[in-house]
Amino acid sequence: MEQYVIKGGNPLVGEVEIGGAKNAALAILAASIMADETVTIDNLPDVRDINVLLGAIQEIGAIVDRVDAHTVKINGSTISAMSVDYEYIKKIRASYYLLGALLGKYKRAEVALPGGCDIGSRPIDLHLKGFRALGAKVDIQHGLIAAEAEHLKGTHIYLDKVSVGATINIMMAAAMADGKTIIENAAKEPHVVDVANFLNSMGAAIRGAGTDVIRIVGVEKLHKTEYSIIPDQIEAGTFMFAAAATRGDVTVKNVIPKHLEATTAKLLEVGCEVEEFDDAVRVVCAKPMHHTQVTTLPYPGFPTDMQPQMAVILGIAQGTSTVTESIFENRFKYVDELTRMGATIKVESNIAIITGVERYTGARVSAPDLRAGAALVIAGLAAEGITIVDDIYYIERGYEHFEEKLASLGAQIEKVSSEKEIQKFTLKVS
Ligand code: UD1
Repeated sequence: MEQYVIKGGNPLVGEVEIGGAKNAALAILAASIMADETVTIDNLPDVRDINVLLGAIQEIGAIVDRVDAHTVKINGSTISAMSVDYEYIKKIRASYYLLGALLGKYKRAEVALPGGCDIGSRPIDLHLKGFRALGAKVDIQHGLIAAEAEHLKGTHIYLDKVSVGATINIMMAAAMADGKTIIENAAKEPHVVDVANFLNSMGAAIRGAGTDVIRIVGVEKLHKTEYSIIPDQIEAGTFMFAAAATRGDVTVKNVIPKHLEATTAKLLEVGCEVEEFDDAVRVVCAKPMHHTQVTTLPYPGFPTDMQPQMAVILGIAQGTSTVTESIFENRFKYVDELTRMGATIKVESNIAIITGVERYTGARVSAPDLRAGAALVIAGLAAEGITIVDDIYYIERGYEHFEEKLASLGAQIEKVSSEKEIQKFTLKVS
């Protein structure tokens, strides 16, 4: 088991390059099997979730040629199985995108019911409602979702709740249905737009992605394309918040500043300076930060995937802040860990009430999930003394070379795998 060991206290200073968006890439990789020609995908993040999904795509018979760490060629003409094993689904929830992709292309799919990051109950009823509205028969038996249709027929779907996953999954199936589909109350996240752009580059006819009404005219075939994935707004936001927490000065490069507006707004509110360039943002945070209120909301609201990182910032800001989680009901599992580092946080229902403390103190903590894990690393970077973050497996699901990128900004952080290595690090930095 590997850990991060961190000696806190160094302000992060310098420039960091952001990779491709993991959540866009997961959907785009699944959608790539819908063509029978070779699709080339670039700016792929080299993280665990992506590699697991590529394994699932290979397992169902597609040809996967990993050209380099950030480029893959996929050819779906050789697909022989319509069934995706629980082994993959249990590792990454997003392999359920293969349901929409296989159903759209072959009108048949079988995928295990997903588990995934434990941040609350995560139903997929809206995905299934969409498939049924398109004319598929959907059964859940023995832990499997089986969807099948003679023909998929374009339809009008209203999503009762804004869901990124359901919007994308339905969009994929509808891209190869007969006739026109309208998805109302669709998610507007940048990665929904990226998946629509990708499908369109393969010949799909999708309009309105990025608004809450998406219109799709089904096509019979999709063709080859070369596509570059958008930058990861959550990775970018994480580095912006790491800069703030350590009172640093960091230029975060290869980003789309528009996608970071909610994150930027909160940094300005707490008293940091944020300078925007065409494809970079610079965060400078020299003065003490002050309290604010934040509520997670679907895009363009404040992203739930930045909620734990925000709480870490507010934990060392002056005054009392509140963080309201409105998307997932169980996303405060990091609070106990952060409390061990000296934070003063009280959780009441879906609201965390945070009273800022002067500083965190290093402790041994465990990453409870991907984003909360990254947030604990930020706390460690800002803390006095040594922090050890266990279970970094979660963090590696979504951050490429996390410790190396942080170290290049001046952080004292190492990935270790034994108590001896922890001791060696501690001796080195003391
Ligand atoms: C995606 C992201 C995740 C992010 C989340 C919200 C991926 C791989 N993951 O997850 O990182 O935190 O969006 O931005 O892209 N819901 C239902 N029924 C459904 C589907 C969802 O009730 O069928 C509810 C969920 O419980 C949740 C809300 O809708 O309360 C939003 O979930 P959704 O947008 O679907 O999240 P994911 O796509 O799973």
